[in-house]
Amino acid sequence: MRVAMTVEMRVAKTPDVRHAGEVDLDDIVRLDAACFTRPWTPEAWLGELRCEHVLVAGEPVYALACAAVVADVCELRRIAVHPRGRRAGAARDLLRAVIDHAHRSGCARIELEVAAANEPALALYRSHGFRLVGRRRGYYRDPVDDALLMNLDLAAATASNEV
Ligand SMILES: CC(C)(COP(=O)(O)OP(=O)(O)OC[C@H]1O[C@@H](n2cnc3c(N)ncnc32)[C@H](O)[C@@H]1OP(=O)(O)O)[C@@H](O)C(=O)NCCC(=O)NCCS
Repeated sequence: MRVAMTVEMRVAKTPDVRHAGEVDLDDIVRLDAACFTRPWTPEAWLGELRCEHVLVAGEPVYALACAAVVADVCELRRIAVHPRGRRAGAARDLLRAVIDHAHRSGCARIELEVAAANEPALALYRSHGFRLVGRRRGYYRDPVDDALLMNLDLAAATASNEV
């Protein structure tokens, strides 16, 4: 009950997006398990925290994003908001921070993969300019679903922002 109230109080304000550290591991693992049917293991998250770009919002943490830069591609691996904190702009803030990170890292594009039935995520990505570039049929199990591959072309995004 106390946690639920904390989350509600937090989402009333603009979330403070910050870099996560190993100290956030337990919060991140709990949040991941609350958001995904196949959560990552603590070991997997530790690897991401040590090597990749992990952003969080809230205290306790109720929103996260994880992105990896390889050469000139930024891969958005995870973005999630606690069910009690949704529809308050947290994912939008995190995605903007990831886009900013990709720009600063000199990336040409951001790539991601999303279940075809995941309407909230698809709407989030489309509203930030991501385009469908491929489909892997039956890629997900439990429930069975296609994986949609989406890209954000950062050069095009920059150019359109400059118009
Ligand atoms: C997808 C998710 C991250 C969105 O988080 P959120 O904080 O609720 O999203 P925001 O409040 O920042 O909304 C930003 C935009 O996303 C879209 N969106 C978010 N939730 C939506 C919903 N339930 N239905 C339709 N569109 C939705 C809208 O375009 C919204 O903009 P708007 O509020 O101006 O309409 C959240 O639903 C979630 O954690 N889902 C489970 C994990 C997941 O599927 N992650 C993505 C795959 S890795």
